[in-house]
Amino acid sequence: MVCVWAPTERSATAALEGGRVVVLPAGFALHPDELTLRNPALLGGSKNISLTPDRMLKHAAGPAVVRLRLKTMMARFAAFARDTVEALAPHYRGALIRGRTSFRPAEIEGRTVSALKDDTRLHVDAFPANPTRGKRILRVFANVHSHAPRHWRTGEPFAEMAARFLPELTPNPPIVNALYAAVGATKGRRSAYDDLMLGLHDGAKRDLAYQAESPKKPLSFAAGTVWVCYTDVVMHAALKGQYALEQTFLLPVEAMAEPEQSPLRILEQMTGKKLV
Ligand SMILES: [Fe+2]
Repeated sequence: MVCVWAPTERSATAALEGGRVVVLPAGFALHPDELTLRNPALLGGSKNISLTPDRMLKHAAGPAVVRLRLKTMMARFAAFARDTVEALAPHYRGALIRGRTSFRPAEIEGRTVSALKDDTRLHVDAFPANPTRGKRILRVFANVHSHAPRHWRTGEPFAEMAARFLPELTPNPPIVNALYAAVGATKGRRSAYDDLMLGLHDGAKRDLAYQAESPKKPLSFAAGTVWVCYTDVVMHAALKGQYALEQTFLLPVEAMAEPEQSPLRILEQMTGKKLV
């Protein structure tokens, strides 16, 4: 499941699109004046601090000078993440759509959250309020803890997980998705693809027998490392760790080297239907 990047375009792109986690040992380091940002008290009522693509800082507490430092650090990470993806997969250049940057200063282990928000359970990512309509979710992570690793677990291949949960799922009638968009519950209209992806996310997280019995592999990321993967296809769970940065990119399926490896094409193949 894990591959350490060899500096050739083909291998890194093929690894990412094939559902692997690409780990880069040389990572992203905080500047000396940013070290004090490793402080969960800076969280303002959410589990993560976010920087939107239009550079609005959200869910951050603390004085203006600290929030400015957070914003600067997160913008620097966003630029680093783009450079990293473009180095790994040069032909994505020009097609990557920048999403949110997040800083995760809280310890994951021991948090009390609802089943569907519990990222210690294996899942693929799907955004309830931000439909991607088939676009890929490519994420760059950095462990910025001074010494502790971040622990993940990865699960079975996407198609095998989908084969288990897909028979239980039915996309919403289009009118329902139109209404969600009209009342502002979603940013843009959800497609049948978004419904199925959210169903897979929720189905896996709710199924405790699946969580206990499905194939899984531990994966730990040392302090200072960076890793990249398509989290819409890699079954993953974040078990333990504190102080991570994450940058989300969306990528149109057509920009992939092998679009048939996308969850959109896999689900269309499995259902025999056009989903977007
Ligand atoms: Fe996730």
